[in-house]
Amino acid sequence: MAATNSRSCLQYLIHLAHDHLDFRLPVIFYKLFQTFLMCSYTYLILYANTPVSICSVALAECVCMFLSLYFSRSAFELWGHGQTHSELRTSLLNYPMENMTPFMRKDSTYRINVYTFNKTLEFADRIKRIDALDYLPFEGTVSLKSPQHVFCLLEDYGTDPNNIPEHPDYIYFGRWIADGQRELIRSHSVKNRHFIGNTSMEAGLSFIMTNHAKVKENDLVFDPFVGTGSLLVACSQFGAYVCGTDIDYNTIHGKGRSSRKNQKWRGVDENIRANLRQYGTEKMYLDVMVSDASKPVWRRTAVFDAIITDPPYGIRESTRRTGSNKDMTKPCDESHVPVSQEYHLSDIFSDLLNFSAHHLVMGGRLVYWLPVYRPEYCEEMVPLHPCLRLISNCEQTLSSHTSRRLITMEKVKEPEELDSLAHLSDPRFSPYQGHNAFREKYFSGLNKKCAKEDNKSNVNGE
Ligand SMILES: C[S@@+](CC[C@H](N)C(=O)[O-])C[C@H]1O[C@@H](n2cnc3c(N)ncnc32)[C@H](O)[C@@H]1O
Repeated sequence: MAATNSRSCLQYLIHLAHDHLDFRLPVIFYKLFQTFLMCSYTYLILYANTPVSICSVALAECVCMFLSLYFSRSAFELWGHGQTHSELRTSLLNYPMENMTPFMRKDSTYRINVYTFNKTLEFADRIKRIDALDYLPFEGTVSLKSPQHVFCLLEDYGTDPNNIPEHPDYIYFGRWIADGQRELIRSHSVKNRHFIGNTSMEAGLSFIMTNHAKVKENDLVFDPFVGTGSLLVACSQFGAYVCGTDIDYNTIHGKGRSSRKNQKWRGVDENIRANLRQYGTEKMYLDVMVSDASKPVWRRTAVFDAIITDPPYGIRESTRRTGSNKDMTKPCDESHVPVSQEYHLSDIFSDLLNFSAHHLVMGGRLVYWLPVYRPEYCEEMVPLHPCLRLISNCEQTLSSHTSRRLITMEKVKEPEELDSLAHLSDPRFSPYQGHNAFREKYFSGLNKKCAKEDNKSNVNGE
């Protein structure tokens, strides 16, 4: 972050990316709560659904907090704002001169950027906007390539692309101080990832999950349905040690058919470890192994700081577990390949919650996706557990009739024997059987065509 001196009463402007709006509020509020505990002279005005959020803070910690989140583009020192350019002018002329002059000296270089939200301005109009700021006492030299100071005029034209106003709804001017984590999403795009599969989770959503799970340096994070390890990649970026399991031998060993268009078989070294190596976080990789999530192989200790996962929904990959309905009387030899049977979604979720209750440390978080059939959705469908508190439940729409919900839970108590019978005394703890028909509903009659289209583009984050 560019250095500032001890100038008082600074207001900061945080420019947030305008996507996945539903997901950012829980993260902001959690982080705010944490930050508020640290600095009592802080207040904050937040327009959660607008691309620009004004964050008026007395301490730079709040700005740092925002910049650590995946959806923050940049932070500015806010010098002025208003509904019109004339209001902006008045506001800028009232801004304390001693706060401005250190960045406008004769021997300095600067550049002014014009950023518009929900409208594209012609080059000539941008220049006009910059020229109109001639009432500001800039004395330095313009340098487009490597300026010492960067300023930004932000014009907000609302959020409706079908109804773009002629004049902006609101205008801000400020001095750029730092960029956020947005670059991570571009640099971690699955398009350029070494090892991918049909259901690799896109980078943006992986970072959202990581933020919801409060992943931090030296945490131990586990993904029981690890697939190609997209969630491990995101967590390792925040300094967590990562491990995972998957029932699929080929996925864990990076073998079998490739998911890339022009490649038949996976190449040498196409595996999860190589993905982390690609992003320079191989040292955070513990291991992954073939294992069935319905029969966890872990000792019953609370070791994971977070469990982050995207269970199978039965659309692009089957929901299966090892085992058979028939009696297996023959002993297994070494070449035995276990038969598998259907793993119902309701069982997947109740196993996942149970596992998390036993293996998360106290205060640790479980973050996972719950697919739902929208016409039937109600909050009672979200699986509960007596040891886990529901923190947030955010929707990502997949089609007119289906969506998936990002569920975040926090461990609040150690499991006791009676907890396994909680569903008998309180129906809220019984698995919701309606999840089991998700696949049929997804591909159901009328919606078949549109489900096919969604399947091509949406499911599992692609
Ligand atoms: C939606 S994918 C996860 C994708 C992963 N997040 C990624 O980025 O590649 C679900 C994964 O669960 C695995 N799976 C299915 N049934 C399982 C089970 N019983 N135990 C463990 N893994 C299972 C599948 O093989 C698949 O890789």
